[in-house]
Amino acid sequence: MSKKMWYSLMAVLIVTMLLLSACGPAQTQAPATQAPATQAPATEVMTEAPTGAATEAATEAATEAASGQVEVFSWWVGPGEADGLAAMVDVFNQEYPNVEFVNAAVAGGAGTNAKAVLATRLQGGDPPDSWQAHAGEATFAYADANQIQPLDDFFQSSGFADVLPETLLPLISKDGHPYSVPVNIHRSNVMWYNPKVLEAAGVTVPDGGFANYDDFFAACDTIKAAGQTCLALGPAWTAEHLFENVMIGTLGADGWAGLWTGETDWASADVTTALNNYAKALSYTNSDAATLSDWQPAAQLMTNGDAAFNIMGDWAYGYFANPAPNGLALEPHTDFDWTPPPGTNGIFVFLADSFVMPEGNKNPEGTMDWLTVAASKEGQEAFNPLKGSICARTDCDQSLFSEYSQNAAKDWSSDQVVGSLTHEVVGNPSWDSKVATALGVFVADPTKVADFQTALVDACKSDGTCK
Ligand code: GAL
Repeated sequence: MSKKMWYSLMAVLIVTMLLLSACGPAQTQAPATQAPATQAPATEVMTEAPTGAATEAATEAATEAASGQVEVFSWWVGPGEADGLAAMVDVFNQEYPNVEFVNAAVAGGAGTNAKAVLATRLQGGDPPDSWQAHAGEATFAYADANQIQPLDDFFQSSGFADVLPETLLPLISKDGHPYSVPVNIHRSNVMWYNPKVLEAAGVTVPDGGFANYDDFFAACDTIKAAGQTCLALGPAWTAEHLFENVMIGTLGADGWAGLWTGETDWASADVTTALNNYAKALSYTNSDAATLSDWQPAAQLMTNGDAAFNIMGDWAYGYFANPAPNGLALEPHTDFDWTPPPGTNGIFVFLADSFVMPEGNKNPEGTMDWLTVAASKEGQEAFNPLKGSICARTDCDQSLFSEYSQNAAKDWSSDQVVGSLTHEVVGNPSWDSKVATALGVFVADPTKVADFQTALVDACKSDGTCK
């Protein structure tokens, strides 16, 4: 019997067995076997056999069945953001030529617009076939609302869990069931800078970055005296991004983590110090921040030489270094450089993008194909070098990555890792939205530190984490 016939026969047998057993969660993807998860990475399971033969047959059955369109929703539209997605879509098109990829991305960094559009679609019973969700609280919220399906079968049959870092698996799992497929790990705490601006002002970045905000503010004073903006900032969500970085740089990793568990007191003097640092950091930013359209124009103030620093996640690396027209094609260390934001040396503030299988989607087989590519080594190796992130998988070929990303990968395994609020790892969407509202009021009048702190204490209380 030929290999192909053997797989086809196995596929028929497995499908029949599963139809007969008809139990377990209402999964719509290709059935998985009960075979124990192997150590093999997902792509190997797909392309090689012996222990995974039945799995491969099931995957082939799904592939043969899939056709039509798969509508994938994200916010990767802007310069630097779209390149990674396009590269992963290329892999998808090669692997699944019968399925048409429909890019339903909605512009707006950090998903500011996309999340609202998605919420309306979900409310109207019109989910995309898959969407971008942050690992952590965002994924839990979709699972809690029964908007997404558990992916146990896929994780088991592909062995995907075996190549995910220990930190990540719990952040996509609820009650032990994985609910999304992480494609990357981004670092939120990077301070990008323009070496030429610093040199002209006579400022040197210490090894490991500025130890604390006082040292950083002293450098900002020098830069200001040289007639330059110290810190480039963009619209509201980037102010929250800056906020979390100042909080972590002042409170430390444990202090920050404790804010979300009730262990750190939001009313404490340490938090007041952090908020004062935040107010002061805002005083060194460009006055037109709120009117900038997104993070890219803010980052570009720095690369253009109109500001010295910009604190932004490492998606900015893709924007700076990728070739034109999407990237700025800049030279690392010459046109731009990087250092940890003040007080965060040895801390890795992370977030991860993942994709989900919705309840009630129109093309579950096509979605399964998309998730298979998102999970695969090939898909992640195409996506991440352009996105500025590192792979969610632990087995990506590091030689494909920039020096920046190779270092980020090392830091990810040696630094103290904490989650981002702005990008939905900690807190939860409703708590985050209360923080964002309070923050918007504060940014408009940063003298009102006490009011801001009270609002933050109240946000924690209304979540139930604080008494
Ligand atoms: C984050 C997302 C990143 C990047 C960034 C800027 O929330 O996880 O992948 O897109 O927003 O838009």
